[in-house]
Amino acid sequence: MTLEITGNNKGSYCVRKSSLRLPEKGPSPPTTGIRTRFPLSPVARKKEVKTFGNVNFFGNSSGSSCLFWQQKSYMRPKVDKTVNKRGNKMVFVCDLGFSSLKWIFGDQKGRIISAHRRTHDGRILVGDEALMTAGSSYLKTVEDLVHFYPTFVEVAANAGHVPGKAPLIVGLPYSAWAADKDSPAGAVSTLTKVLNGSGWPDVRVLPQGLGGIRLFMEQNPGTKGNVLAVDIGFNTVIFTLFAAGTRSIIYGDTFYKRGVHQMATQLLLPNIRDLAPSRTFTPVEVSYLIERGYIQYGFERHDISQEIEKAAKTYIEDVLRDINGELQAHLGLKAVFETVLVFGGGATLIRDTISSNRVNIRILPEPEFANAAGFALVDG
Ligand SMILES: Nc1ncnc2c1ncn2[C@@H]1O[C@H](COP(=O)(O)OP(=O)(O)OP(=O)(O)O)[C@@H](O)[C@H]1O
Ligand SMILES: [Mg+2]
Repeated sequence: MTLEITGNNKGSYCVRKSSLRLPEKGPSPPTTGIRTRFPLSPVARKKEVKTFGNVNFFGNSSGSSCLFWQQKSYMRPKVDKTVNKRGNKMVFVCDLGFSSLKWIFGDQKGRIISAHRRTHDGRILVGDEALMTAGSSYLKTVEDLVHFYPTFVEVAANAGHVPGKAPLIVGLPYSAWAADKDSPAGAVSTLTKVLNGSGWPDVRVLPQGLGGIRLFMEQNPGTKGNVLAVDIGFNTVIFTLFAAGTRSIIYGDTFYKRGVHQMATQLLLPNIRDLAPSRTFTPVEVSYLIERGYIQYGFERHDISQEIEKAAKTYIEDVLRDINGELQAHLGLKAVFETVLVFGGGATLIRDTISSNRVNIRILPEPEFANAAGFALVDG
């Protein structure tokens, strides 16, 4: 079978195989240029490009009656998905936390709930799929994070169509990262090896809690004085006192079991227990519940946003007081700061309640992605 098309030297247009008529839409009809017969067997399929002479054919979805063609000289250069607009290698960032993994690749991003479940045939399901039926498990320790990182990264890579060779940056809680980052059996090297073994040759492990600071400093380069950064996660609260001028860490620590989960179990669930009397929630379900803002029991749905707001207000006051206590204990008079920077998903809950006339409190936009976005600024 052959197809005759007539082209000008610009652009592309669509030719009907059956009628051989040029379409009404598209560039103006050709007056000069090529007139060639093209063998069309087999017909180009979706995304397939067939080159005949200096013309490229692109298959349509069904490979049926309509083909798009474009002269080679007019083709846009193929976009290399591993390189960003500045020509740097695009990094794939995965920040796995106790409630969700946050991933970023170029201008795409997403979250995957940190639930996992083993299927009858031995596969591990993660995210919403694992939450779908009761009996999902959740991540409890830093060792769990390390163990499950490759599975979550793979699901995120599929969601973002990330090429396997992209440099990968992952996060671990600050104190786990700082404690044994140089030890060969520590969490940082174990995680690096585990991810290398899962097909990611270029891996960097960075400390959660510092990504948000990096993002803030990039967006506010003129910041002076000390910044107290508070990453409110689900399980962990990571605080860091940071000198903006010298870009150095003065002091920092991680509180485990002091995140949004503690707020929920101590300040929220006792007040809403009668809304779901016979239910117990796994921690990840609690996280889900808070984000959703309502609780459903049978055919009844109850809005719990007021209760969440009240719990969040008390919670943030307690957390900030504890952090201040730690800073006083370790630094005494040197524990001064001009700005308090709050990020992590917990920051979304306190956005409306936080107020201070003493220091400048800043909540980063999309605070749950702040660490990942800060990591993405690290050059390849
Ligand atoms: N977009 C959002 N809207 C509302 N609530 C959110 C949002 N993102 C996160 N949260 C809430 O904030 C909590 C903490 O989220 P975050 O993603 O910072 O936790 P994490 O990083 O998984 O936990 P950890 O830092 O302890 O490992 C979640 O449990 C969730 O309840
Ligand atoms: Mg976190």
